[in-house]
Amino acid sequence: MFKLLHLSDLHLKPPGVVLHGLHPDLQLQRCVSHILAEHADADLCIVSGDIAHDGEPLAYREARGQLKRLPMPVHVMIGNHDDRAALGAEFPEACAADGFIHRVIETVVGRMVLLDTQDPGSAEGRLCEARLAWLRARLAENDQAPVYLFAHHPPVPVGLQRMDAIRLRDAEAFMAALLPFRDRLRHLFFGHLHRAISGTWRDLPFSGVRGTSHQIALDFTTPDIAPVSFETPGYGVALIGADSIVVHHADFMASR
Ligand SMILES: [Fe+2]
Repeated sequence: MFKLLHLSDLHLKPPGVVLHGLHPDLQLQRCVSHILAEHADADLCIVSGDIAHDGEPLAYREARGQLKRLPMPVHVMIGNHDDRAALGAEFPEACAADGFIHRVIETVVGRMVLLDTQDPGSAEGRLCEARLAWLRARLAENDQAPVYLFAHHPPVPVGLQRMDAIRLRDAEAFMAALLPFRDRLRHLFFGHLHRAISGTWRDLPFSGVRGTSHQIALDFTTPDIAPVSFETPGYGVALIGADSIVVHHADFMASR
């Protein structure tokens, strides 16, 4: 069984700086320690964006230092809160030659396709024609391997009004790019929502995970803001087999 760790929405500030009354750096520290204690045998770790809250270089340095403690390969993605240049300066291996922070990771269970959905200056997600062309090319270049998709922004409305307003704007174009390869697409993983969530989008299974610091409330009525909540943070542990994908949610703040 292939074990994939899915972290998201670290929202790091420079070390010691408080955000929403929490210490994102200390929470990530605890998350990493939990992984080392419980899931050090994982094959891969993907962090699906919002590494920093305000794109500060010191926040990326903190992320780099913490994530370096993990023994498995770790890949960071870009979210709407991130600064492309500052993230790229600390994680140069994440940057493609075309300037986007997208790439493919080959694994024994298939291809992990990590998308760049950031639209600079906007909280909303975008897949412009250049990124869609890149995605189509990646999907076309290996017609045997199963594909797992990763994006910061969900393409599907989930009932949280503010988050739905800032989801992936180009969802229809995204689906049009996916459709010719539909039989090889196994799962879509995303962040952005700061919630443990799962479902299907046009029959494509998806899951999202909690942030490692603050969460967003399960609030279906507030229209213009995403209410911060202090529900338990967490990360995802996906067990990928030949005919199944199971996504667990680990509570790293819970004591045993
Ligand atoms: Fe976030």
